[in-house]
Amino acid sequence: MSSEPMQLIDRFGRVVDYLRVSITDRCDFRCVYCMSEQMQFLPRAQILTLEEIYFIVRAFTELGIKKVRVTGGEPLVRQGALSLLEKIGQLEALHELVLTTNASKLAELAPGLLNAGVKRINISLDTLDADKFKQITRTGDLAQVLQGIAVAKNLGFKKIKINAVILKHRNHTEVCDLVRFAVENGLDISFIEEMPLGQVSAEHNRAESYYPSQLIRQDLAKQFELISSTYQTGGPSNYYQVGDSATRVGFISPHSENFCSTCNRVRLTVEGQLLLCLGNEHSVDLKKVVRSHPGDLQRLKQVIVESMQIKPLKHEFNIQEQPVIFRHMSVTGG
Ligand code: GTP
Ligand code: 5AD
Ligand code: SF4
Repeated sequence: MSSEPMQLIDRFGRVVDYLRVSITDRCDFRCVYCMSEQMQFLPRAQILTLEEIYFIVRAFTELGIKKVRVTGGEPLVRQGALSLLEKIGQLEALHELVLTTNASKLAELAPGLLNAGVKRINISLDTLDADKFKQITRTGDLAQVLQGIAVAKNLGFKKIKINAVILKHRNHTEVCDLVRFAVENGLDISFIEEMPLGQVSAEHNRAESYYPSQLIRQDLAKQFELISSTYQTGGPSNYYQVGDSATRVGFISPHSENFCSTCNRVRLTVEGQLLLCLGNEHSVDLKKVVRSHPGDLQRLKQVIVESMQIKPLKHEFNIQEQPVIFRHMSVTGG
């Protein structure tokens, strides 16, 4: 009999039951707040195999992880992503398998995702203007993304949520249009304050583009009734109901409304680093564990349990300074 706890609990008494897994650092977009134009991606030998990812996720579910979110980079550009999702979807202890995607391949892959047991999909969409979309993503095609959303919606996923990173002077005037789009399509939407992760480009000034959630709420209040809601997904969004519609508007406000006290999540990077916080460097090398002791589930679980001792209290983002976190969001998985 094992005496291991079935819950992961950190030094501050927070229960960790949400794992975000980045299955690739690659992406077919180059969003200005996320990547630089010329990115160096990781060589194959350095990244976890799909089998290793599955093994690690399995260990986590045996330690009380209830929700797994698969992310990237863009998760759907990794070959074999669907079969990995299918396997994870069958893990007995898992309550919810969810995905964050840029939707470039969603029209084609949505049926397979539904079949794999993906319940909810979060889709990055910062603007409904095709030219602006091209400027923000550098390489993305808005029509493709909208088609992906339409296909997924018609298939009947439990919930689809739009994620919009709002940047002053780039897309801050579009928040009402985005909410209207969400309402018309029965989607939720979260507005995200940009976080200073990695050097993205010399031209992009994060302090100048900062647009706090409070201003977005004020802008929205001119056109929509926002009713404070207790709805929770286990993620960082603080939700409001939009009038009597089916849409909820969430605010993810790492700068203006810190949510670290309720943090319930850790992240696995595609290099096999377990990150204990998005805004800190504290990490444990799980790739080393699975490669030096292949198949040793107990050892892996022990390392994960011990990692809770180094989970930091909160992130320390400062958009006025050069980033102190050098990894890009695409490596971290958001
Ligand atoms: P659900 O609540 O399950 O719908 O998802 P989510 O909002 O947790 O995940 P999603 O992939 O949609 O992430 C939305 C944004 O929230 C991304 O920009 C993430 O980086 C950010 N985010 C998620 N967790 C944290 C966190 O612990 N700290 C910070 N600072 N940001 C986070
Ligand atoms: N700050 C905030 N959100 C970001 N995302 C990517 N980079 C950043 C950043 N620097 C968002 C994407 C996606 C989610 C996973 O993270 O738009 O929706
Ligand atoms: Fe790709 Fe998402 Fe980063 Fe945009 S935010 S470049 S879609 S990983």
